[in-house]
Amino acid sequence: MPKAAISGTTDRRIDSLLALLADNAMIVISGAKIAREIGVTRGTVWRWIEKLRALGVRVKGHPRTGYQIETVPDFLAPKMLRRRLNSGPLGKRVHHFFKTDSTNSVAMALGEKGEPHGTVVIAEEQTAGRGRAGHTWHSEKTNGIYMTVLLRPPVSPQQAPLITMVAGLAVREAIIEQTGLTPDLRWPNDLLFGRKKFCGILTEMNAEQDQIHFVAVGIGVNVNHEQIPDELKKIATSLRIETGRAQSRVEIVARLLRHLETYYNLFLAEGPAAIVARFSEVSSFARGKRVRIETGSETYTGTTAGLEPGGLLRVKRDDGRTLPVIAGTLSEAD
Ligand code: BTN
Repeated sequence: MPKAAISGTTDRRIDSLLALLADNAMIVISGAKIAREIGVTRGTVWRWIEKLRALGVRVKGHPRTGYQIETVPDFLAPKMLRRRLNSGPLGKRVHHFFKTDSTNSVAMALGEKGEPHGTVVIAEEQTAGRGRAGHTWHSEKTNGIYMTVLLRPPVSPQQAPLITMVAGLAVREAIIEQTGLTPDLRWPNDLLFGRKKFCGILTEMNAEQDQIHFVAVGIGVNVNHEQIPDELKKIATSLRIETGRAQSRVEIVARLLRHLETYYNLFLAEGPAAIVARFSEVSSFARGKRVRIETGSETYTGTTAGLEPGGLLRVKRDDGRTLPVIAGTLSEAD
């Protein structure tokens, strides 16, 4: 297999194989024809089909009879994804991995090499998915969405937290559209059903004092997990658990990128106020919620008292002071 442009990315011809099988889902397609169309030997087609089978794609047949896909696979491969996107910059370039350490790490490295605004890095599995505050992100193979969008926003580094809120609003919209259920947004960037989280966002930035070079907006969504590991059961859920059925990851990613484009453009056109107003409207955490905040050095409780113009959450602490939350992990207090 020739070396892909970025170490570990999915060979473009596997992407083509998936698209070809998906486009011919109802018919048997000969190994020779596949080999001709994607430019590999029949032996390679066989090996790749075996690889797809190992990943759960149901393909009937063998080299002599030809192949037929039984269900259109829900892979996040570039060709499958791009045909669902509009012509905007988000998702114009997609780097897909069957397995990588962290899509955020890949995107940060690509950002340094000059990768353009809107590039998406996406993986079927992460071996070292990162969460906020040094946590790891449980990244079960093919059941979740593990993606990072590289953005080059023409705003100051102080406004970067707003980009995370933009992403949270976009995910929320995509989930409503996809499932009909309305999730809550926990400031600044978690999506919940009830008290259980199914999506987290990790934004990392490369900037100078007054200029952002790029941000890597990493989004993790628990989609088709049938079970949540014991240690996370009390605090996490998945879309499958909430809706009772499997959800198409490729549809969710496409919706998400479309809404991200809309909210990002709203942010650039109207500034932080538009994002803060929308977030305040849809998040039950913006005002009147009893919360607990844990920083490295202290834990305190209070009641949320609205967002500041720059997006920080104000909390009226139980000791009477009302202050913005600068750092720490926020949870709903009992
Ligand atoms: C959180 O702690 O809530 C943020 C979780 C962010 C996880 C995503 S998965 C895709 C991207 N790559 C990573 O390593 N992390 C983010």
